[in-house]
Amino acid sequence: MGNQQEESNGKTLIETLTKRFTCKRYDPEGGVSDEDFATILEAAHLSPSSFGFEPWKLLVIERPGLVDEIREQAWGAKRNADRTVVILARRDVTAESAWVHHIAHDVQGLSEADEQARRETFAKFQRDDLHVLDNERTLFDWAGKQTYIALANMLTAAALLGVDATPVEGYNRDGLEKLLAGHGLYNKDDWGISVLVQFGVHDATHRPVVKTRRPIEEVVEWVR
Ligand SMILES: Cc1cc2nc3c(=O)[nH]c(=O)nc-3n(C[C@H](O)[C@H](O)[C@H](O)COP(=O)(O)O)c2cc1C
Repeated sequence: MGNQQEESNGKTLIETLTKRFTCKRYDPEGGVSDEDFATILEAAHLSPSSFGFEPWKLLVIERPGLVDEIREQAWGAKRNADRTVVILARRDVTAESAWVHHIAHDVQGLSEADEQARRETFAKFQRDDLHVLDNERTLFDWAGKQTYIALANMLTAAALLGVDATPVEGYNRDGLEKLLAGHGLYNKDDWGISVLVQFGVHDATHRPVVKTRRPIEEVVEWVR
């Protein structure tokens, strides 16, 4: 049983998720504060990841003209959003990688012995359990799946703050990678594009798409 505060949090959350919608047209006047955007970024930063390996990086695009170039490769992205974020997924998160060493050593502060044990467990998990090591694509998509957790937390944070948002999978991967890596924004061997997300203020003259969901009985099956 939750206390009163928790019950009220639950109500707020469901009301917020019911109200939120994917913004299809932004008000050019915008108005997302730096503080709200910092909160949204922090929601991504605090997101959980498999083994805590954080296989993501967020490119916040502020360079003049670059969002327009991105939109040429990303048909799902909108004009006039206040912020456009490209979420990258790490390509090489394997037990022997420098990335895993960086996280285990620098971030998690594991001893050499604990890091070694972690690497062994992780190698087995990736190889034998989830078959993540089948090919480069399975490895990249495993990292990409986790970036969607950060994406979801950003969307929920935005909704709680009254900030409108658009998740964007509508992009041409080859074209966008060529553009962004070409601008020197990341190393293609280390990172790939996973998904984009935009934030701003919905254009009040544009009616949002009617929200539809399957009935919850169709979504949830209780196994008893
Ligand atoms: C991973 C993902 C990618 C999406 N890509 C796009 C996109 O490129 N452009 C767009 O306008 N909407 C995009 N959407 C929005 C979905 O169409 C929308 O979430 C869905 O229709 C449900 O509507 P709602 O978000 O308004 O509740 C995307 C949503 C998700 C979760």
